[in-house]
Amino acid sequence: LELIGGIVVDEGIRGYLEQFLAKEPLFLKKGALQDGYMPETISHRDEQIKQIAKILAPSLRGDRPSNLFVYGKTGTGKTLSIKYTTAQISDLAAQKNLPLKVLYVNCKMKKIADTEYRLFTELAKEFGKAIPPTGLPTQEVYTKFFDALEEKSQLLILVLDEIDQLIKKVGDGILYNLTRINSELKTSKVCIIGISNDLFFTDHLDSRVKSSLSEEELLFPPYNALQIQSILRDRVKTAFKEGVVKEGVVEKCAAIAARDHGDARRALELLRVAGELAERDNISNVEVKYLDLAEDKIERERVIDIVQTQPKQYQLTLYSIMSLYSPDNRTIFTGEIYELYRKLCGRIDMRPLTQRRVSDIIGELDMLGIITAKVISKGRQGRTREISLSTNHNLNPKIKKVLEEGLELA
Ligand SMILES: Nc1ncnc2c1ncn2[C@@H]1O[C@H](COP(=O)(O)OP(=O)(O)OP(=O)(O)O)[C@@H](O)[C@H]1O
Ligand SMILES: [Mg+2]
Repeated sequence: LELIGGIVVDEGIRGYLEQFLAKEPLFLKKGALQDGYMPETISHRDEQIKQIAKILAPSLRGDRPSNLFVYGKTGTGKTLSIKYTTAQISDLAAQKNLPLKVLYVNCKMKKIADTEYRLFTELAKEFGKAIPPTGLPTQEVYTKFFDALEEKSQLLILVLDEIDQLIKKVGDGILYNLTRINSELKTSKVCIIGISNDLFFTDHLDSRVKSSLSEEELLFPPYNALQIQSILRDRVKTAFKEGVVKEGVVEKCAAIAARDHGDARRALELLRVAGELAERDNISNVEVKYLDLAEDKIERERVIDIVQTQPKQYQLTLYSIMSLYSPDNRTIFTGEIYELYRKLCGRIDMRPLTQRRVSDIIGELDMLGIITAKVISKGRQGRTREISLSTNHNLNPKIKKVLEEGLELA
């Protein structure tokens, strides 16, 4: 650690910092707006929560409940409701000394669920069995988990959140093994709860796997704007000092979040970022205009994040499109893009892909929502694509800069 001492005080910055320090914070508890916070009340999900409780209740008697597949769009309260209900169950089980255990796995977490090996290692660890991070055959890791589970004579409720991510990485064989495990276990039992925001997830599963995972299914519908408002109002009370959030903010925030589909996470994030931006400006209220600023900021970060994580060939294709794009040249054709792309490949010593492949990449950039590619017919000359950028125009210079740095073009 290096101490920075003996500096020349920058009056302007010092003034801002002192003003910031003197100001009452706007937040009481910012954490209440962050993901993972367990709110005291869950509104508009009574039906689903009751349903989950009814399905899982037999576990308290040591009977294996039906496996359950929970699905619905992002931010509709799936994770929250499952965590809430399973916590109620395991609390009661602990109180009454019942042999029941709930394990929650978020399959989006790389270190836990990107291979079958890692997942079973993690599960075995929960039962007190240490397994080396690599080196054993996967079957042996599975057997260790199996034995550890059997030793405990327990009912295990295994929650696999974002289960589509797991299957995308390791295939559906793992689910086949997990749903069949009960026919091999003698004293323990496993109940699986899968959660996904991919509404078509089960369509791609092997039909046997599908029917055992979906013994019960539960849909979480999107919230409407009024429901989001009431969720936000509850959180505002915990998160902000009284009176800080101006009238109209909650309504507008809910309206923005409900524009696409009612996504409570998006609404909470918007409110949090609006609060942070207001705080940075040293003002004492969150005003409606901060929601617009917050929306821009979130969109900017989202796009930059997508762009930065694309493979190099994608980045160079996008860079070519952006270089050709200008306010007076809003539609660009695949041919021009390819020409520039090839030239740039030469400059950075990258092996160019075929025009066909670049054309596929253009289609994929369209799917990511960064560009819009419209197929148009050119009569006898066949078809081509008219391409335009679909990001907010203010963002373009920033995106180009990110690409130049990433590709070492500058
Ligand atoms: N009914 C509700 N009452 C209070 N807070 C809620 C409610 N529904 C969702 N939230 C909050 O909204 C955020 C998103 O909810 P949750 O994580 O449960 O969504 P999800 O359906 O699991 O979404 P994803 O599919 O993206 O994982 C969380 O911070 C959660 O606390
Ligand atoms: Mg979730």
